[in-house]
Amino acid sequence: MQKNRFDLVVAEIKAQAMNPPGKDIYLQSFYTHVLNNLDRDRSNQLIKIITETLTVRPKITHKHFVNLLFRSVQYLETNYLNNVNYPNGLETPEAWDKEINQLLENIEYEKHLRLTLKERNTTTTIYQRYCGPYFIMSTLTKNKVTFVDLGCGAGYGPLGISKSVPFKEIVDRTVGKKVAAQMRLPLPLNKAYGIDVTSHGDPESISWLRACQFYPSEIYQMNDILNFEKKVGFFNGKVTFFESDITNPKAIRNEFPKKKCDFATVCTTLYMIPDKKENVLKFAQGLLKPNGLVIVQDFARKTPNGKLRFDVSWTTGWPYRTFVWGKATGYKFWEVLKWSSGRCREVAPGDDFKAFLHLAS
Ligand SMILES: C[S@@+](CC[C@H](N)C(=O)[O-])C[C@H]1O[C@@H](n2cnc3c(N)ncnc32)[C@H](O)[C@@H]1O
Repeated sequence: MQKNRFDLVVAEIKAQAMNPPGKDIYLQSFYTHVLNNLDRDRSNQLIKIITETLTVRPKITHKHFVNLLFRSVQYLETNYLNNVNYPNGLETPEAWDKEINQLLENIEYEKHLRLTLKERNTTTTIYQRYCGPYFIMSTLTKNKVTFVDLGCGAGYGPLGISKSVPFKEIVDRTVGKKVAAQMRLPLPLNKAYGIDVTSHGDPESISWLRACQFYPSEIYQMNDILNFEKKVGFFNGKVTFFESDITNPKAIRNEFPKKKCDFATVCTTLYMIPDKKENVLKFAQGLLKPNGLVIVQDFARKTPNGKLRFDVSWTTGWPYRTFVWGKATGYKFWEVLKWSSGRCREVAPGDDFKAFLHLAS
């Protein structure tokens, strides 16, 4: 394992301990617990598991790994321990110390944790995030839309849009509150596709994705998630799912209808892909009609030459942003929207918001 990679992971754990996503105190105390052990006791069992995982997964990005670490522990708590009190009592690093030590004393739990870290990807899927792509698609489309969601996770985006599930209200800082207004308009759908490396709709994947869905302090939202799933189902005739690696443009060449889509959405997925982001754009282009657009939404910033960079804070300064890319943008990323968090409840215009509106006129 390269030292540099381990240092990046430690820096990310530190950042999350100081400034946890959603200001979540359980996440804060969990990551502080890990940091304390990194400082004091490198022979600690959890630290050993972290080091080993980084060795067996040389390609995992540090941000993905740090998220995955917590989600894997949460999966154990909710799925294997069936801890109905979770996360109560885990407000301090000391409480996590005791909890993790107890967990890892059990050979079965330890095995599950290792396996989850080795084999799974974070699949947190938030329907609300799709209001950015919805705004773009419905602003630009006059007819019925066909879109493909790359890295679709649970598929809530295409499934929810296919059933016209409304988004939650947002605070809209654009002039004329254009995003909020557009979200209330229907988006006639011809067909949607979802593609992910994780298989869609099998019981194992479903229980894993549920453990990924929330910060611990959001656990009360579980019923909303279950109700949403009941409403949209995991399958319906308007949406087709494929299991494939989106960094390999040839992966589903023969299965997927070519050049059929108006849009390809890539939400909160490119940050997980360390060195093949260009391949994802190539993959998307192969699925799009000639004038189709790629919509990327992620914790990212546009560079002066119209590319994206992902070395950004996840918690400060409008961290989550919506970009479009394609022939109409000269194959440069345009920043259309910026969100106050990845939960997408407050939006402001991005640098290229006006230019984007011209595309529609
Ligand atoms: C954080 S989830 C995002 C889910 C959803 N798009 C959202 O924003 O709510 C990222 C998804 O990307 C998928 N993913 C990561 N790398 C991938 C790859 N190379 N090919 C296909 N899917 C990938 C993961 O399995 C995961 O389901």
